[in-house]
Parts: sequence; structure tokens; C-alpha cells
Amino acid sequence: MPLSLTLEEEHMLSGDYGSGVQKSMDLLVQIGEAFGAERMVEISSSHLIPYEIMSASRFGVPPAKWFEDWVLEMTEGVSSFRVVTTINPAIVNPQRAIELGFKELGEIDPTESVIKGMEKYKRMGAIPVYTCCPFLIFTPRKGEHLGGAESVAVAFYNTFFGAKVNRESGPTALAAAVTGRVPEFGMHHLDSRYGQLLVEINRGLDSNKFTYADYNALAYYVGEKAQGRIPVFYGLSQNLNVTQIKYLCAPLGVSAGLPMCHIVGVTPEAPTVEIALGGRRAEDKIEFGVEQLQEAYRQLTTANDERVDAVTIGCPHATLQELGECAQLLGGEKVSPKVKLWVGTAETIRFIGERMGYVKAIEDAGGFVVTDMCAHSYSYCRGAFSRKHALGTVATNSAKAAHYIQIIGSAKTWFGSTEQCIKAAISGRWQ
Ligand code: F3S
Repeated sequence: MPLSLTLEEEHMLSGDYGSGVQKSMDLLVQIGEAFGAERMVEISSSHLIPYEIMSASRFGVPPAKWFEDWVLEMTEGVSSFRVVTTINPAIVNPQRAIELGFKELGEIDPTESVIKGMEKYKRMGAIPVYTCCPFLIFTPRKGEHLGGAESVAVAFYNTFFGAKVNRESGPTALAAAVTGRVPEFGMHHLDSRYGQLLVEINRGLDSNKFTYADYNALAYYVGEKAQGRIPVFYGLSQNLNVTQIKYLCAPLGVSAGLPMCHIVGVTPEAPTVEIALGGRRAEDKIEFGVEQLQEAYRQLTTANDERVDAVTIGCPHATLQELGECAQLLGGEKVSPKVKLWVGTAETIRFIGERMGYVKAIEDAGGFVVTDMCAHSYSYCRGAFSRKHALGTVATNSAKAAHYIQIIGSAKTWFGSTEQCIKAAISGRWQ
């Protein structure tokens, strides 16, 4: 069945609202038709990953000219976005590029592109949050349709709020912000949201004692085995906090490209296992115990040298709770002069963290609380821009960071709890 459009959407497609809106609607229509959508749905927000501020320099190479032109055309004549629009972290915070050592990388200086991109999207009304946790700023209600390109934000919006969002590409999330529409397929249909893979936490494993790294390891392991099937986590505490859920959601997009999971007792659509599965039988079941946890840790750890060059916390961006935990774990001790400790967060969280004294405690110890960017981009940029700059070993409590640092940054990783990471920052060695 062809995709049917409302009168207003027809006007968008025919160019009555200008060429940028036309180009954006045309892209969404083509995507919708390819995925069998029958109509567009109105959205209330879109979360962007503009190539100018992130992907252009993430891999050390600028995007192809045709891609730049194409994205430019989608915003031609567009003075403002139609919906609440938030933006992902940049590759570097341009205000702190020198202090953070980006200029010394030499071959590609991403700051110019980042500043240009930030100004452009702000002019169009985007909220300059520069975080992968926009859910700490924009909170949708259950069933609300959204657009968005960041895997963490998408998984969190679907899983925690019960909002409906597909994992978009950079250009389609932009087109969604320009038109205020997305084609209705995938996560926008209730039927596609039911769980398919039951994940039972083995009784031998006390999930009440899980560290953030343990939640990360669980989701990373399940993502690898899921083969695109939406997991239903059964046996986790129903009192999970936002930080724990963030760490459970984050690896789903990394190891599996999954847009959501169900946490029984937490996800609005999962009060029980049966409801989460939509009354069907699970296609498969994973029992997650000590052995599986250890397997995930082994995959995320590639280092064998105890010496640590950098420690990165805050992927996804740290919550206020995490800033407090880092400050407390440092306990007035100094970071080893041979180690860079970076804690990434959103500017809004840093602001409150300053008032709480957390930022001062971390920075007095010799660490950085970096905002508007990914805390570990220094680690992977070094390897991506030039092998000769690659760091030797980076410690992190994040599966997503470990994954990228290994692949893009060409560095070895230690993966473990926040406590292990902070200890490594102080001693310069992984214990
Ligand atoms: Fe966020 Fe960057 Fe990690 S976008 S999830 S801090 S890779």
C-alpha cells in the first residue's frame, strides 16, 4: 500500500514550504515506503547527531562532499525546526580544545566544523544541550512519537518512558526535526515493540549488587546474542534508578543496534513478562549468570599491561549521582600525573555538580569534568587521527566507550567498575 500523506504533508512534499522542507519530506517518504509505512506521524521532538559537530571528525576523515551538500539542502530556507530539537555531544568542546590537548593532534582540527555546526543548529532553534542524555532535559509521555538518532537516547526513550522512536540516521533525524514528522513503522507500531527474547538473571547472581559496569556487561552480552530480537529482562530490581537504566540501555545500540528493551516492572509496557511479550511465547531464552558476566568483561577488556594512560567515565553522559560518586571515590587524593581522568557530562549537570562541590573535588584532584562532548573522544580521536598519537591503555566503566576505544582509537581497554577506574586514575595502574 502506498504511503498516504495529509494535505499539509503534501504541501511540504510539493515544495510549498521551501526546498529544505521538500527535500526533508522527500527523504522521509522514501524511507517510509522502503519500510512499508502507510502514513506519517507527528512527533514532539527529534534528537540530532549533526555530522558537522560529531561524525565529520569522529573517524579522522571529513564526510564526502555529496553528503555535505545533501544535508545542507535539507535545511535550505528553513528558519526554525518544527519540534523540540536537541543535539548530541560534539567531538570536542571548542572552548576547551586547547586545554584538552586536541590542537596537538595536528592533522585534523575539528573545532572549526563544530563551532559552525553549533551556530547553524542553534539559529534554527535547536536546544544546545550537546548530550546523549536529552531525556534529562526533554521528558516525553508514554506513547508519544519522537525522532532521534542517538542510540542511547532512543533506547532510553522507548524503554523508560514508553515513548515511540526508531533509531534514525543523522539525515532522517534532521528531516524529522525540519518537518515534525516520521514515517510510521518499527517502534511506532505497538506490535513491533513486544519482547521476543527472555533474559532471566540467574539466581546465583545478585543483581542488587550490580555495578554500572555489570549492567553494561549484561546488556552488551545480550545484545550480541539477540540477533535483532527485543530482550525482556526478568529478575532485575524494580527499583532501578535512572543511572542504572542508562547503563542497561547504552550497549544495546552498540552490540546489537537494538532500539529498546523491556525491564519487567520498570518499562511502562512491561508490568509482567507476559504483557512484555504481547501474550506470545518468547522465541528464545538466555540465562545470564556469572559465566556470561565474565564473558562480557573479557570481551570489553583487551589490555594486559597494568599501566593506564587515561581513565574515562561518563559514556553515556554522567548523571549528578555519578559526579558525586566520582568525587567521593577520589576522597581528596590526586590523580596520577601520568593519567588523564575525564568525566563527561551535560553542561546542565555540571552546573549543579559545581554547586554541590563535586566538580571542584574532581578537578582539584587533577581530573576534568568535560561537557558538550564525549569524554572518551580524546582517546579514540588520537588513534583515529593518527596511529602515532594512539594511547596505550584506557580504563573505563562503559561498554560503549570500551567498544569505540578499541575499534576507532586503537587503544587497549580495561573495563570495570567506577571504583576500579578511579583507583586506576590515582595509582596509574589497573588492579
Ligand atoms: Fe554519549 Fe559519546 Fe558515549 S554520545 S553514549 S558519551 S559515545
